[in-house]
Amino acid sequence: MSRSPSFWVVIPAAGVGSRMRADRPKQYLQLGGRTILEHTLDCFLGHPNLLGLVVSLAEDDPWWPSLACASDSRIHRAAGGAERADSVLSGLRLLGKLGAAADDWVLVHDAARPNLIREDLDRLLAELANDPVGGLLAVPVRDTLKRVGPDGRVRETVDRSVIWQAYTPQMFRFGALEEALAGALARKVAITDEASALEWAGQSPRLVEGRADNLKITRPEDLQWLAQRWSNRPEA
Ligand code: CTP
Ligand code: MG
Repeated sequence: MSRSPSFWVVIPAAGVGSRMRADRPKQYLQLGGRTILEHTLDCFLGHPNLLGLVVSLAEDDPWWPSLACASDSRIHRAAGGAERADSVLSGLRLLGKLGAAADDWVLVHDAARPNLIREDLDRLLAELANDPVGGLLAVPVRDTLKRVGPDGRVRETVDRSVIWQAYTPQMFRFGALEEALAGALARKVAITDEASALEWAGQSPRLVEGRADNLKITRPEDLQWLAQRWSNRPEA
């Protein structure tokens, strides 16, 4: 395995969490006595190869200043945007001002994925350290997949052996990622993750298999599921 490279991190955390239907954005809901966002940041802040971290936040975010980590000098605050990709690009622009070089690695990770463990992070770093493009943690789909018609009836069963779910962190070179994301957004291409921006730019990101429980908290049942298991989680 290659030596683990140094890396920057961008955490998009400017979403409103509409599908959670809570009284605040989901990254500020509690899990095991702390906020989801604090758990998400922990995995990176505990890593010796971290160069710096940007968190993209809504401009009127009243919750961030009360977190203990808000005063951590390794964390910088960028302005979130209308879509996740805008928040990520805003974070990348700030990384540029902080001194990120074109060849530096950047890891982008959803604020709403608090269950990333160090083992997965280290595997991603090691496996992509010498990759010309970069890539992402991903999970092979487990269920049988159906293509459905507008009438709600099955048209066909899809070959699931070639279908993976895209997770985060996603790890790309700073210069290539900023250019691809800015280019795709300027042309109004639908970008739902960093890999799709690189794909738009003609690259083929590599998949690194990760744990399925590094899930993105999206709906109330996701948080209930994770909260029940939280005390037994492997050391992050
Ligand atoms: N995000 C962001 N800026 C946006 C939208 C989303 O930084 N304009 C972030 C979210 O805070 C989250 C991650 O991107 O950490 C993944 O997005 P998602 O799960 O869709 O979160 P929300 O957009 O907050 O949730 P919903 O779509 O249910 O409203
Ligand atoms: Mg969203």
